[in-house]
Amino acid sequence: MTVLTEHPAPGGAPAGGPGRPAEPPEPVGRPELLVDPALHATGDPHGIWRWMREHAPVHRHEEGDLPAFWSLTRYEDIRAVYRDPATFSSAHGVLLRPLALGEDPGAGQTLALTDPPRHKQLRGLMADWFSTRAVRGLEDFVRDAVRDALARAVERGTCDAVHDVAARISLYTIARIIGVPREDQEALFRWTDEAFLAHRSLAAHHGFMGYFIDLMDRRAAEPADDLLSSLVHGTVDGEPLTEEEILLNCENLVGATENGRLALAAGLLALLEHPAELARLRADRALLPAAGEEILRWTSSATHSMRTATRPVEIRGRRIEAGDRVVVWVPSGNRDEDVFPDPYRFDVGRTPNRHLALAAGEHFCIGSTLARAQLRLLLTEVLDTGIGLEPSGPAVRLRSIHVAGPESIPLRVTPPRRPRPAA
Ligand code: HEM
Repeated sequence: MTVLTEHPAPGGAPAGGPGRPAEPPEPVGRPELLVDPALHATGDPHGIWRWMREHAPVHRHEEGDLPAFWSLTRYEDIRAVYRDPATFSSAHGVLLRPLALGEDPGAGQTLALTDPPRHKQLRGLMADWFSTRAVRGLEDFVRDAVRDALARAVERGTCDAVHDVAARISLYTIARIIGVPREDQEALFRWTDEAFLAHRSLAAHHGFMGYFIDLMDRRAAEPADDLLSSLVHGTVDGEPLTEEEILLNCENLVGATENGRLALAAGLLALLEHPAELARLRADRALLPAAGEEILRWTSSATHSMRTATRPVEIRGRRIEAGDRVVVWVPSGNRDEDVFPDPYRFDVGRTPNRHLALAAGEHFCIGSTLARAQLRLLLTEVLDTGIGLEPSGPAVRLRSIHVAGPESIPLRVTPPRRPRPAA
């Protein structure tokens, strides 16, 4: 019986499965290539990271279009940086950004780009919307989004798993949490899709920002039971947030769902590329939680996080000065052979699996429970219905140094082998 149609990687291409090589890749001693988006689209960043973990775990990159920065590639170093926000500040940006663009407009204003103690208060305004309880309350909504997306794909007989399935599930859910009315969610989907595909900031998207200015005004006049109202009517240090802070935080939350979509889509792809693991999961559904964690580790959709050192600090004998930028390469930490036995193996039963895909410490992904639930619900639906999903062409990887994963996964879709019982 075919569930996801079991199929090897299309065309033997590296496809969208980040870290695709079954064998550890050949060492490549050229860390400077890491800032080239083309490497992440068509090359083998894992080969470089593997070499760096062994030979240059604390590596200095000189200034070019990007500022100078330090690269960390070992699990323990990445985790330590995440867990020490006093030494490694997020307030000047958490992503590498060309010098010509200046500082990130969200610096010091969005959740991701603030330091304690302000960060804690800001997170407090949003945390309830992402709690286990809140996510449980959203499960029916997510399941419906999954079923709608799959039903449409079946109807057409084909789909792009990124655009038609994963992106929709991810975006509709955050829209609902923020408080975007159902009738506006399609427009929001269009704007985010445009921005993500063009690798442009949502903050520069006039349609998107104009819409949120209007919605913010409406929630100021009349609060509703949604996250936007919590931001509009909440306070940090006894002061209300500025309009700019509210808007940038909405943009940050919607932007963060790019990771959500990538985890879902790359998760499907990982299973298609590993038929034996798919068969294991199908035979033993108790593996689902472990499979979800392995998908997060394997796909590691957040490629890097950046921090700025607040004081001089030494790591493995290299001195990092106050003001220096430090970049942690998350997929590298998640393949660290000192922590993960057989790290280049996709193993749906892997335990323990203390990956760093969702970061660690103060800035641990606020959407983590939601992302995990979405993954579980998507996989459950696909496995339960036995819908046939089979690659109809090579998956294409994103050209980005910020997020990793598939830009598109063309699939042929065949109807479920048995209709779902009527509710
Ligand atoms: C449901 C979708 C998601 C939403 C709404 C979301 C939202 C967020 C937000 C708002 C933050 C900042 C938290 C803070 O500073 O306190 C964050 C951090 C983070 N998220 Fe997520 N996220 C989602 C899914 C994911 C996924 C699937 C991944 C990776 C697999 C991911 C990886 C991360 C990482 C690495 C950080 C730390 C960033 C940093 O501080 O440098 N997120 N997320």
